[in-house]
Amino acid sequence: MCGIFGYVGNKECISLLLEGLKKLEYRGYDSAGVAVIDNNRLIVEKCAGKISELEKLLDGNSHIDSHIGIAHTRWATHGRPSDENSHPHTDCKDEIAVVHNGIIENYLQIRRDLAADGHVFKSTTDTEIIAHLIEKNMNGSTSTSLRTSLEEAVRKAVSELTGSFAIAVISNKDPDKIIVAKRGSPLKIGLGDGETFVASDIPALIKYTKKVIFMGEQEMAVVTKNDVKVTDFAGNPVKKEVTLISWDPVSAEKGGYAHFMLKEIHEQPRAIRDTVADRVKDGQIHFDELEIDKKELGKINRVVFTACGTSWHAGLIGEYLIEQFVKIPCEVEYAAEFRYRHPVVDEKTLVIAISQSGETADTMGAVWEAKSRGAKVLSICNVVGSSIARESDGVLYTYAGPEIGVASTKAFTTQIVIIYLFSIMLGVIKGCVSQNESEKMVKELYELPQKVELILAQESKVEALSEKLYKSTNALYLGRGKGFPIALEGALKLKEVSYIHAEGYPAAEMKHGPIALIDKNMPVVVIALRGRRYEKILGNIEEVKARGGYVVAIAVDGDTEIKDKADDIFYIPHTTESLSPILAVIPLQLLAYYIAIKRGCHVDQPRNLAKSVTVE
Ligand code: AGP
Repeated sequence: MCGIFGYVGNKECISLLLEGLKKLEYRGYDSAGVAVIDNNRLIVEKCAGKISELEKLLDGNSHIDSHIGIAHTRWATHGRPSDENSHPHTDCKDEIAVVHNGIIENYLQIRRDLAADGHVFKSTTDTEIIAHLIEKNMNGSTSTSLRTSLEEAVRKAVSELTGSFAIAVISNKDPDKIIVAKRGSPLKIGLGDGETFVASDIPALIKYTKKVIFMGEQEMAVVTKNDVKVTDFAGNPVKKEVTLISWDPVSAEKGGYAHFMLKEIHEQPRAIRDTVADRVKDGQIHFDELEIDKKELGKINRVVFTACGTSWHAGLIGEYLIEQFVKIPCEVEYAAEFRYRHPVVDEKTLVIAISQSGETADTMGAVWEAKSRGAKVLSICNVVGSSIARESDGVLYTYAGPEIGVASTKAFTTQIVIIYLFSIMLGVIKGCVSQNESEKMVKELYELPQKVELILAQESKVEALSEKLYKSTNALYLGRGKGFPIALEGALKLKEVSYIHAEGYPAAEMKHGPIALIDKNMPVVVIALRGRRYEKILGNIEEVKARGGYVVAIAVDGDTEIKDKADDIFYIPHTTESLSPILAVIPLQLLAYYIAIKRGCHVDQPRNLAKSVTVE
């Protein structure tokens, strides 16, 4: 899940490339590098570590005068993080430079063949073979007049590759253009005025332009400062739509917060309002972008959610909501498992793929699998025009705005909001929910942002709580019903940003094993939501206390019973049982954040993680 950026225009491009990389650093931060053409010389500077290391390296290079370049920030898959494994990678003569996001599955065979032809490799990456393949194709003939163009050499090279890739290529032999190609990994082109940008993701483009071309599967493009020519891998021209991006540049900044994660936690009231806005007209729930009509939806007799990580937790909440409001069978599948099993789905199955980035390879694969078996595919995405959205029969967008922090927060709560609205709408279509009930439930939703603000106003209480917990080495999160997915999500947040080993468990399951872990050093976070299971969750707290455990409870305002059971309690405002998970997760997001801060962790770029996982 690397970040690619490129520029061709009239401006001096090194600082632009660094700026672009910084906006993509959440995609990977193991190493970084740039390649530029200056006066027909190809110059490559790269090193292991964060972009700040690359900046130091480039400090002394102010003499470089270049207006075309490509850049890369890496999340290592093949070849450990090191200077030589950093991108860009070059050919034997350092005339061609390549940056790549994805995995080349047949690289070992190609590497062996190229080495047999005398090519010398400088790294242990899969990517480097691409530069040598292009070199071989360009030099196919010894006469310069017959020399293959960079575009054709790239076209020939990508046709030999298996796996996923988004690449950008420059060469001092063809110095005025960037060649890009895409299969599986995301790639966008930003159209400026006399300049053009290429990038893995929108936050790197919106400072310069809102006019974006989304590269499709098996497409490549010749990018110059005044033109973009898109073809498919066979060379046939492809007419591309230019999408106007609604995000504003400020949204990709920290806005005065210390970290993107904290900013995005605080953006949830606005994100929920924006996600609900114009989804209800005259009391009717309505999705303009859905593209699956009500008649089709009426035929659906089964729902399968598929996703990864936090989005999978949103699917778990969805299972409760679909069963409750639509009364049809519903399952939740890990995308990578769903993809390689023999899932039994048909034209009456609605597969709902949830993905913040819309680029997660495992979820993309599950979408392809579901479609190949005749299912209808609806995706819930946060990035407009992303690959999963484009591959689905219908899409519902969460309007959370760009989510830069690797730990997903506002995307999660807005995913639940969308699933809540969609489940009610499907319930109405299927005659399981009356119009009156639908309007009442929508009214509850309108009151939610304010209740989130009330929780955020008590942030200091969570910070104080984190003071007691940040030295822990383990933690257990327990919940029942819709509190269980929130326990999983709370544990995931803590793992992701603080590196404390944490597990989420259905509270009833505790006595079937995890209770053995309980002692005074094992903090137990219990999501104690009101509802049919409340008494049972109080019982679980007593079981933990009976073993000398320390209990932090997330409880609902007015809950006095829990006062003398839990050690520490964080109260959330009252709302319906269906919406309470959205409120219950916010103190857990803050808790993970403050514990990580106290442990000195880099919350926006946790080790070993990346924002969107675009390889399997
Ligand atoms: C969550 O905080 C993580 N970043 C990760 O688990 C994430 O939810 C998962 O990779 C899925 O990403 P997606 O929603 O963009 O598909």
